[in-house]
Amino acid sequence: MNYKDLIKQLDKNLPDHIGVIMDGNGRWAKKQGAGRLWGHKNGVESVRALVEASVEIGLKYLTIYAFSTENWTRPDDEVKGLLKLILDSLINEIDSMSKQNIVVRFLGTDIGLSKEYQSKINKECQKTYNNNGLNFNIAFNYGGRLELIEGIRSIATKIQNNTLTINQINEETISQELYTANMPDPDLIIRTSGEKRLSNFLIWQSAYAEFYFTDTLWPDFRKSEFIEAILDYQKRQRRYGGTK
Ligand code: IPE
Ligand code: IPE
Ligand code: MG
Repeated sequence: MNYKDLIKQLDKNLPDHIGVIMDGNGRWAKKQGAGRLWGHKNGVESVRALVEASVEIGLKYLTIYAFSTENWTRPDDEVKGLLKLILDSLINEIDSMSKQNIVVRFLGTDIGLSKEYQSKINKECQKTYNNNGLNFNIAFNYGGRLELIEGIRSIATKIQNNTLTINQINEETISQELYTANMPDPDLIIRTSGEKRLSNFLIWQSAYAEFYFTDTLWPDFRKSEFIEAILDYQKRQRRYGGTK
């Protein structure tokens, strides 16, 4: 079925927040007899398609996993290429995204990034902060465990300063310390390329997320399959530990 027809099948029960683990760029490139960076470049086209589709269906939050804290262990030229591609793509796309009323945020740690790189990213994102459409998050230099460590340090500091008591620590206070503070938890997490793991993505936030796994490699994952994933989600029954 084509994209337009698939969209017509969606019901009102849209997820508020979709997380996407974009995986398989390297294998896609290998199949083409090309280097890994060629796969990442083509993956950017899939990101653009998903962002467009998200705006078209009125999604509130889309979070994509672009670079993990573990990805620094890849060969130097791939890391450099990825960092450059992410910044260049942001600069190229920011005006178009802003016109679509999108708010763009980077979620992750500063550790390992130069001040110059950080300020370039912040400068671009700030252009979108007056928008109020799709919230498009790019999990970049992101690791779920480091996010928790940074949050726990902040809570410990507040206790030390007597601005928080130990008994005040609850799910809400922890959620408020994470990069996703004030955002809904992901309802649906999509992972491409046949791998079935979280790889340190939104580990606290995905406690009750639904998962959609597909063998499609990321550069081949486009609008229609995105809608198919949401249709699959809409067939599920979420129970949160209760009974139906
Ligand atoms: C996902 O594709 C992109 C990033 C992790 C940045 P991979 O680069 O992991 O591709 P595979 O898994 O090696 O095929
Ligand atoms: C997860 O993919 C990270 C991103 C998509 C940015 P990886 O390819 O790095 O994950 P593993 O190594 O297969 O777990
Ligand atoms: Mg991978």
